[in-house]
Amino acid sequence: MRFADKVAIVTGGGQGIGETYAKSLAEQGARVVVADLNTEQAARVAKEIESAGGAALAVRVDVSDPESALAMGAAAEEAFGGVDYLVNNAAIYGGMQIESLLKVDLDYYQKFMAVNMNGALHCTRAVYRSMRRRGGGVVVNQSSTAAWMAGGFYSIAKAAINSLTVNLAAEMGWMNIRVNAIAPGPTDTAATRSVVGDMVDPLVNELIIKRIGTPQDHVGALHFLLSDEASWVTAQILAVDGGHIVRL
Ligand SMILES: NC(=O)c1ccc[n+]([C@@H]2O[C@H](COP(=O)([O-])OP(=O)(O)OC[C@H]3O[C@@H](n4cnc5c(N)ncnc54)[C@H](O)[C@@H]3O)[C@@H](O)[C@H]2O)c1
Repeated sequence: MRFADKVAIVTGGGQGIGETYAKSLAEQGARVVVADLNTEQAARVAKEIESAGGAALAVRVDVSDPESALAMGAAAEEAFGGVDYLVNNAAIYGGMQIESLLKVDLDYYQKFMAVNMNGALHCTRAVYRSMRRRGGGVVVNQSSTAAWMAGGFYSIAKAAINSLTVNLAAEMGWMNIRVNAIAPGPTDTAATRSVVGDMVDPLVNELIIKRIGTPQDHVGALHFLLSDEASWVTAQILAVDGGHIVRL
């Protein structure tokens, strides 16, 4: 029970990597706010956590909306008394439009950035006071190896997440709030299957470790970054990627 007495919010916790994160934290004793735009999926995950003996609350959030992020923070406070951990995992990824920067519809681009780039900031602003009241906290942002690639607006948003990680860490260190990011390589979720289709084999061929990642592959990094073992680790981007960012 590594995280007994801790309260964690996982955005995008309704499916994919976020679902695995949420359940893994509950298994280690954390009370978990499963926050997602998709209320049905969030409710399912929260219910499954409770059925397994954990404590969870499903909350609808649109991370692109600062008011909605504030309401999520307030719901966590009301249910569990405060927030220790924030995992900024939500993003538009599954089913995202694949379009060039020069041709993408600008309304879509703005919405995409509001979610994938600004969402982590909105949620952090919504909870940092609560963390501070509890003597500190930890934020883990979900980046991607795409941050170092030419993957269009998805890559731009993830590169911004890396910079946000460094800058928020610099602003909040004095409050004993650490901020780090995990940069997953290609990971087997329904969302990835929808984006890469039958390109999985060529993708895997680019990796040092010749298999696609699983959501579970990221759990060790998440738990380390949240734990006191990482109490002097901040402003870091940890690639968990099978060696994806190395040019072979
Ligand atoms: N799967 C991969 O290969 C991979 C690789 C690198 C990084 N990532 C990142 O990991 C995270 C999760 O990936 P996944 O494969 O589980 O994707 P996913 O699409 O299955 O999960 C994203 C979740 O975010 C939620 N969401 C979307 N917009 C939202 C909004 N405005 N407010 C709140 N919630 C919203 C969705 O409902 C969904 O539950 C994303 O940040 C993604 O960019 C994934």
